[in-house]
Amino acid sequence: MLKSSYNFTHAICRLPAQSLVDGLRAVDTGKPDYDQFLKDHNDYISALENTGAKVIVLEALEKFPDSVFVEDAALCLPKVAIIMRPGAPSRLGEAAEIKSSLSSLYTNIEQINGPGFIEGGDILTTETEILVGRSERTDSAGIEELSSIVKPWGYAVREVDTPEGILHFKTDCSLLDEKTILSTKRLANTGCFDGYDVIHVADGEEACANSIRFNKHVIMPGNFPQTEQALINHGFTIKTIGNSEAAKLDGGMSCLSLRFTPS
Ligand code: GLY
Repeated sequence: MLKSSYNFTHAICRLPAQSLVDGLRAVDTGKPDYDQFLKDHNDYISALENTGAKVIVLEALEKFPDSVFVEDAALCLPKVAIIMRPGAPSRLGEAAEIKSSLSSLYTNIEQINGPGFIEGGDILTTETEILVGRSERTDSAGIEELSSIVKPWGYAVREVDTPEGILHFKTDCSLLDEKTILSTKRLANTGCFDGYDVIHVADGEEACANSIRFNKHVIMPGNFPQTEQALINHGFTIKTIGNSEAAKLDGGMSCLSLRFTPS
């Protein structure tokens, strides 16, 4: 049976704006190279399409430098899409943009109205629950509002911690299948994945924890050989994508798409 937490018919990506070179970053490691970013983004879209999904590619939004990281603006569940309320002031306006794109795909669209904040990068949807990490972008009020929105749709939200210094909860973890999570040790050590099988990313390869299971593939950033081999040994089929430029903006594989099956 297809699992709704990692089998998807659709994805939404947004073309990178030229302004992305001014995107948010915790530590400045240099300006991203736009052309390389675009090339990696094309490869990413192809990887999603190669699993049979329809990928909707939205136009670039120059006034929102981080808008290529489209995941942060919405949570797409099978029966309802919820528009987020980003905690980064420069990203707040991305919510209205994504709402207009989702309105032709979903009958049911809900919205986080505040006063709390929540970004999609802090949300890990598994087959049984929605884990949301408090972070600098997501607070308890935002999580509570999400919880009350999704409860009538049958979803349980669990609020967890994101270790300090990590941008988003999913910076450090990914769902691999209905029972298995890829996680850094620092995140798994908080106990948030107790009850799941956890595969740790190799020491020194923490930057590949943000991967995605998308249909038959685990799509992960390239150049993390030990973790890639560990996942192959566990029976996963891997597709690697260059992420050098997105990483300069603290972005990874999950950030670049919304993945969903509208019903
Ligand atoms: N640069 C991505 C973010 O900080 O939201």
